[in-house]
Amino acid sequence: MNDLKEGREQWGSRLGFILAAMGSAVGLGNIWRFSYVTGESGGAAFLLIYILCILAIGIPILMAEFTIGRRAQSDVVGSFETLAPGKPWVLAGFLGVASAFIILSFYAVVAGWSLHYFVQYLSGGPSIDAEGGYGGYFGEFISSPLQPLFWQFAFMVLTVGIVFVGVKKGIEKSNKILMPLLAVLVLVLAGYSMTLGGAQEAIAFLFTPDWSSLTDPNVYFAALGQAFFSLSLGMGALITYGSYLSKKDKLPGAAVSVAGLDTLFAIVAGLMIFPAVFAFGIEPDSGPGLVFITLPGIFDSITGGGIFGLAFFFLLSAAALSSGVSLLEVAVAYFMRKFQWSRQKTAIFIGFIIFILGIPSSLGLGILSDVQIFGRDIFDTMDFIASNIFLPIGGLIIALFVGWGWKKADALDASDFGDTLIGNGWILILRFFAPVAIFIIFLSSIGVL
Ligand code: TRP
Repeated sequence: MNDLKEGREQWGSRLGFILAAMGSAVGLGNIWRFSYVTGESGGAAFLLIYILCILAIGIPILMAEFTIGRRAQSDVVGSFETLAPGKPWVLAGFLGVASAFIILSFYAVVAGWSLHYFVQYLSGGPSIDAEGGYGGYFGEFISSPLQPLFWQFAFMVLTVGIVFVGVKKGIEKSNKILMPLLAVLVLVLAGYSMTLGGAQEAIAFLFTPDWSSLTDPNVYFAALGQAFFSLSLGMGALITYGSYLSKKDKLPGAAVSVAGLDTLFAIVAGLMIFPAVFAFGIEPDSGPGLVFITLPGIFDSITGGGIFGLAFFFLLSAAALSSGVSLLEVAVAYFMRKFQWSRQKTAIFIGFIIFILGIPSSLGLGILSDVQIFGRDIFDTMDFIASNIFLPIGGLIIALFVGWGWKKADALDASDFGDTLIGNGWILILRFFAPVAIFIIFLSSIGVL
């Protein structure tokens, strides 16, 4: 049985696919975005809802994306066109391509910060004056116009380079060694961070919910967006990756391992950041700079900690790269097919446009910081539109498509669940629970409920 399209690239092995999907999921979202959003959203209540979002909405939609991609063997737009020709579901595909542009545009800005810190640690770490500390250093760095743009550009060059050589060669191998190394390092640093004196406060902050915040719709909204962002969900990155799979692979196991590892990563990252946040007296709601202010303090307090700084920012940049690659691949796969361009030409062209698109986000933290859109700077606005609005809407359409737009028997067969209890439960979640939950979270966040 060969349901593959001639000439399409494919993963070399089942492990290769799982690693690539994990590489996409694990990135800045787990360390940078998770910790600052958790900090801003009050900690434990947010974490609880976040985990519920992963389990009840994230994993089922992740399965839906894998299933669609493998069955359709095409990019986000092409997949819907193949499975449901002439139907409006393809809207999710276009939304996905748009999200890829927006997310990668600001993602590259933050990945650029990580590259900058890595290079700083090549010569001992960022040098600070006593007054401003690492917060001052970070603030000065991101508000200087040119430096962050240079590193953002460098990150885009690396990302384009990997997509340029192709899915299998470029993506599959890149993270086999580096991701486990990052996991070990984050674990070790979490252990160390707990000895700094802020452990008790951090554990309380992360695991003792303030139940009253469960009535705050914004906490749900933030948790849903973070779940989609962290799992690389809702814009077809995993449809695209699933499309490079053959029929032999079993999907449910892959979906659960990707989500499990991703969530574990985030929690351990929280255990690394928050004890230090409290030990150093940093405000948990300091915003997007949180890890860049906190971590150098940790490295400083270790004798010879510069080497940890070097390793950490190297591995964080690598993790960002494998995520960035999955974002770029969504757009590249679509434009390649649509216009019959070569992979190389498409990667360079799209990569350049995304770099340009990211410039306002970077400048929005410095010389353009007066530009505010509904109280958000440009960077936050891009993140908000993509992560909190486009991704959940994309996920909603994907859930509805598999639940309602596809014959149930087909969907069950394509997913490897078959007509089992779990399979039927999955369909029920996609039909009712996930769409309704997303809808309610949306309505309540705009104050309608
Ligand atoms: N999940 C990645 C992270 O946590 C970011 C990412 C990669 C992403 N591909 C995506 C987010 C697709 C949303 C959609 O860093």
